[in-house]
Amino acid sequence: MKRIILLTAFLLNSACTTHTEQNLAVTANTPHPTVIAHRGASYDAPESTRAAYIMARDLGVDYLELDLQRTKDGVLIALHDDSLNRTTDVAKKFPDRKDKPVSEFTLTEIKTLDAGSWFNTAYPDRARASFAGLQILTLDEVIDIADSGGQHKPGLYIETKVPKLFPGIEKDLRNKLEARGWLNGHRVVLETFEKSSLELLDQEMPNVPKTLLLWVGDGYMDAAPSKPFDASTDKDWASWYARQQPKDRAAFESWIDFAVLHHATAIGPSVALANGGEQSYMDLAMPWMNQMAHDKGLLVHAYTIDEAVDFERLTKAGVDGFFTNRSDALLRYIGGPVAQDKQAILSAAGF
Ligand code: G3P
Ligand code: CA
Repeated sequence: MKRIILLTAFLLNSACTTHTEQNLAVTANTPHPTVIAHRGASYDAPESTRAAYIMARDLGVDYLELDLQRTKDGVLIALHDDSLNRTTDVAKKFPDRKDKPVSEFTLTEIKTLDAGSWFNTAYPDRARASFAGLQILTLDEVIDIADSGGQHKPGLYIETKVPKLFPGIEKDLRNKLEARGWLNGHRVVLETFEKSSLELLDQEMPNVPKTLLLWVGDGYMDAAPSKPFDASTDKDWASWYARQQPKDRAAFESWIDFAVLHHATAIGPSVALANGGEQSYMDLAMPWMNQMAHDKGLLVHAYTIDEAVDFERLTKAGVDGFFTNRSDALLRYIGGPVAQDKQAILSAAGF
């Protein structure tokens, strides 16, 4: 499949305008399909660390994805989970606070944590001694990595993660991107699951593309009736998620309309993966859903997809871009080129 670059100007969304994939209201120079490195090259290196972001950058992705949180002393950092427990040695270094959110730790404390060794334990086939001791990164450090790409400088795709825990984080993000010169002439997309955060991002950065991430249930999109997992006969969570659906077409459309009203440029649906697994969720990227999004002027960037069988199905269903842990697999699927060998990238970066 040949990649195209969308050269359309940034246009206002309009619920009454019919769009095609190529003339959607998007920023100039948006690659299509879009390659979004989910927490960096997180299949091959510890997520959201220097190793993962350098590898994704040098493979040639369009965007480095990160989940934004804020330390006790007000520093913006990249971390996915609500606590530090899964991906660091916080239980050893700060046992009394091991389940606390990042907002209970200063940056100095966070920088003492080892955010690499967990990966070596979890994935011995991909382990490297040099991953041990990798640090959690500040947003500034992720920007530095993107900026220091040689011929290829990726953009940033930034999620406000649990934004209610961090009041004012949208403004902090605006200030940081502005101070770093990233609000002009750089590719940035902002993303959130939270309607309230989309509104604030729209107020703070009206001209930056934004994606409303989608989920069913738990206070998000109204769900069709379903037994809870524990009362179901599903063998695993992926099977259970795959059966969860929006309550009806109107429930789905109301989220699309909210995204349009607050000037989102894309939706970010979860998908059910062919081979299941921990990141296989409800399928919110069905053809009729993608068509509705396109008809209302929105692109569709689906999460989180790593295998060709899913790239193929979802491309046929109308998806415009993919969050992926395996950037090399996606780049190969869309016809590359994969800029460099993974081993060579890590070696050159000192890993
Ligand atoms: O941001 C898209 C995707 O990353 C959403 O899921 O939980 O990995 O942040 P999560
Ligand atoms: Ca994310």
